[in-house]
Amino acid sequence: MLELIKKAEKTHSLDKNEIVSILNDGSIDAELFAAADRVREKFVGNDVHLRGLIEFSNACARNCFYCGLRRDNKSIERYKLDTETIIKFAAAAAEMGYKTLVLQSGEIPSYTVDIMAAMISEIKKLGVTITLSIGEKSRDEYAAYRAAGADRYLLRIETTNRDLYEKLDPGMSFDNRLRCLKDLKSLGYELGTGSLVGLPGQSSADIASDILFFKEIDADMIGCGPFIPNPDTPLANERGGTFELAIKVIALVRLLLPDVNIPATTAMEALNPAGRLIALRSGANVVMPNVTDGEYKKKYILYPGKICLNESPGQCIGCITGKIQSIGRNISKDHGYRKKVK
Ligand code: SAM
Ligand code: SF4
Ligand code: FES
Repeated sequence: MLELIKKAEKTHSLDKNEIVSILNDGSIDAELFAAADRVREKFVGNDVHLRGLIEFSNACARNCFYCGLRRDNKSIERYKLDTETIIKFAAAAAEMGYKTLVLQSGEIPSYTVDIMAAMISEIKKLGVTITLSIGEKSRDEYAAYRAAGADRYLLRIETTNRDLYEKLDPGMSFDNRLRCLKDLKSLGYELGTGSLVGLPGQSSADIASDILFFKEIDADMIGCGPFIPNPDTPLANERGGTFELAIKVIALVRLLLPDVNIPATTAMEALNPAGRLIALRSGANVVMPNVTDGEYKKKYILYPGKICLNESPGQCIGCITGKIQSIGRNISKDHGYRKKVK
């Protein structure tokens, strides 16, 4: 098994069976994480990129089984921030030094293409890089956001097991998800995708296929995190993904896609108080602190145990900066585009 890790560190290539055998072997985790950390340092250095996350609406017309924002969840109060408020949060985050802002929401038609495009061009004037995470849209919509100034897009494939995807995302089609990712890539966005780790019915072979899929579509950013069961969803009684497995996935992604940006996802820290730092030492190089001010983030509940609910954006940037520096890493001063190594 150690030979496999050495091979991955050297060649950045493993086949599906090899990935499965690493995922299933708990005895080599320390070596796996150390190898991923070395590859991270060699390819993307010691800088950690901070991306400020604005959760601008928790309203959603979709009904994904795993997510607390699903439309059938009647126990959360829905909000839709207006453009002025979103721009105000963006300006405050830019003032704090954020170079990238991520605009994320459920999927709802009230933010029309015109409203979104106008907001994107206004936020762009702050000199920030803009990432969108607003779900499945038509190619024309993606093109309009790109023309307005959006630079990156996050759309997790969630799982490459087509049957599982369509079972857990009722009414959604795996083919359309793939179409979206391909459109985004061809429109010149930096493409972010990723997966939920530990979905009910997901096998190690499925996870291995996810990792190979990220390579195949040449994703620039890969966000993988544990699935955490939400009591207000149909998956309330499922076991959820473990922290250990999610970290292994991050480490394998770093070994196989050495130059991509990999966030230490917030869900990691919901399962382990040192979760993001452990992820940063196992291959990750990005953190996405919340810059949504006020009470809204308490209503943007995908899963239980969300962190930073009572802290302001100013407190979070201070907190995470200290943590990152405590492990000998630096806060990046640039916009953190992927520097692709051929
Ligand atoms: N609506 C957009 C979409 O689905 O792409 C963006 C917002 S959605 C809330 C962002 C991500 O949250 C999803 O891609 C999913 O992986 C993650 N998520 C949802 N429910 C979760 C859960 N119970 N545990 C962990 N992550 C979850
Ligand atoms: Fe809506 Fe996204 Fe949650 Fe699915 S994952 S219910 S699309 S917010
Ligand atoms: Fe929010 Fe630490 S990052 S309190």
